[in-house]
Amino acid sequence: MNLSPDRDPTQLRSHRWFGRDDLRSFGHRSRLKGMGFDDIDYRDRPVVAILNTWSELNTCHSHFRDRADEVRRGILQSGGFPVEVPVMSLGEMMMKPTTMLYRNLLAMEVEEVLRCHPIDAAVLMGGCDKTVPAMLMGAISADIPSLFLPAGAMLRARWKDQTLGSGSDAWKYWDQRLAGNLCDRDWNQVENCIAASAGTCMTMGTASTMACVAEAMGWTLPSAATIPAVMADHSRLAVATGRRAVDMAWEQLKPSKFFTSRSIDNGLTTSLAIGGSTNAIVHLIAIAGRLGETLTLDRFDELSRQTPVLGDLRPGGRFLMQDFFEAGGLPALLQRLRDLLNLDCKTVAGSTLGEQIEDAEVYDNEVIRTRENPVSPAGGVCLLRGNLAPSGCVIKSIAASKKLLHHRGKAVVFNNYPEMKERINDPELDVDENSVLILRSAGPLGAPGFPEWGMLPIPKKLLQSGVTDMVRMSDARMSGTSYGTCVLHIAPESAAGGPLSLVETGDEIEINVPERSIHWHIDDDELARRKANQPGVAPEPARGYMKLYAKHVTQADQGCDFDFLAGRSPGEEPAIH
Ligand code: FES
Ligand code: MG
Repeated sequence: MNLSPDRDPTQLRSHRWFGRDDLRSFGHRSRLKGMGFDDIDYRDRPVVAILNTWSELNTCHSHFRDRADEVRRGILQSGGFPVEVPVMSLGEMMMKPTTMLYRNLLAMEVEEVLRCHPIDAAVLMGGCDKTVPAMLMGAISADIPSLFLPAGAMLRARWKDQTLGSGSDAWKYWDQRLAGNLCDRDWNQVENCIAASAGTCMTMGTASTMACVAEAMGWTLPSAATIPAVMADHSRLAVATGRRAVDMAWEQLKPSKFFTSRSIDNGLTTSLAIGGSTNAIVHLIAIAGRLGETLTLDRFDELSRQTPVLGDLRPGGRFLMQDFFEAGGLPALLQRLRDLLNLDCKTVAGSTLGEQIEDAEVYDNEVIRTRENPVSPAGGVCLLRGNLAPSGCVIKSIAASKKLLHHRGKAVVFNNYPEMKERINDPELDVDENSVLILRSAGPLGAPGFPEWGMLPIPKKLLQSGVTDMVRMSDARMSGTSYGTCVLHIAPESAAGGPLSLVETGDEIEINVPERSIHWHIDDDELARRKANQPGVAPEPARGYMKLYAKHVTQADQGCDFDFLAGRSPGEEPAIH
């Protein structure tokens, strides 16, 4: 038993449920007994919840039953009482219309599940894209000692002599198939190979980006973000995470004690240095909001201008997560960024970030580049502003074509996604490689749910003539595994009456990424005429979660959290009567 003098069980949160000599506590204890537990199992031990986002419809978390058992082993080793608690699973592949619609719902569930139960500490098991920010947002608001266990990425996939990357290569080979360069047999083989194991997408998509961000912000044990899902190291990580959670309960190491806006800067810098997903910016703004802080796109722009891209990782670069792990993992990359990080920030390990990365070494300078030889000296993801996006928009410039970073072309506008799908491959569509493809009604309200439609497909007739990239613009997001010259998160979105709602086919649009600008060439009279005829906003959903969502979701530049969830929670404990 852990009864050293500083480990006073009456200080544990769960003591209010189990430790009192009253009828309520009797009820709580007797029901544990009814489950086959004895006093020795739980009395005076921290209750450590394993918040498990396992589901058979979440393909990325298929190893979570095993991992939960391993976390449990760690909790028992350290004298805790493990309880596994399922929470909503957001599996990117199967969930429609988009998991982003439900990020805030999971965040609310995590917060309330932690608050209303006798939980002294929690291990947050997530990985597939939105589960990471959702669980962190919920834990910050509940302010109960918590640490994050990332799912880990899939193993490297191989097909013939090619290495395949999640998402990125699916689109690449699909385009080849549309262009008539890939037979059915080869396409089927790619389908068989591309998801090589359990785990999250193994390119630097949103899942891996957010895992790295979580680690850099101090929410995981060292190296957790880069260990592939099915390696023995990952099982050992799970056990160690369980052990550490028990200590955190005794130390009462709540998020409010280790997590600050300076940690968020570390997360942002890291997401830029790994060439991470554009989605990280939306999630980090929402995470900052839970601390009562405002993370502005200008702060992001400032960090983007000073942060070199050192991770040569797909889709912006060449390698996969397993390569990153073998090259030394995230601590090794962070070691090369020391001067740009707040090294004194605390972590769940009970140390500082600086201590956590002190001994890290880089084993492969191709995967983790040196400061002298970066993938890009700065600006892996850039903020653009202009009359088409008064509240900003973003572009992942390292995954774009260099020659298109300054481009002016005629708009081809699609009013919504179904219309785009219907028309994009029409041989009659008036489009050429210099056109700017525009999709609207794809933002937080318009779609709704802010889906990953931002990498608009290239029209088939252009693919067949050898075009591989075009400028595309939308108020949507883009999968972290996508690539191409895609301007995203245009805010305000069209459904909120943003300028995007007034653009017409044939208008001239210009982006200038080096100057961070986006410009719609339109004169004032014409703009006034179009404003006068502006279409009405979409009707509000009639009921249910969708109604709550539409009423309260904020725009992309504000993180798309619900307005009523922002700000520090007062930390009230539930009454136990
Ligand atoms: Fe789950 Fe990509 S689909 S991480
Ligand atoms: Mg994704």
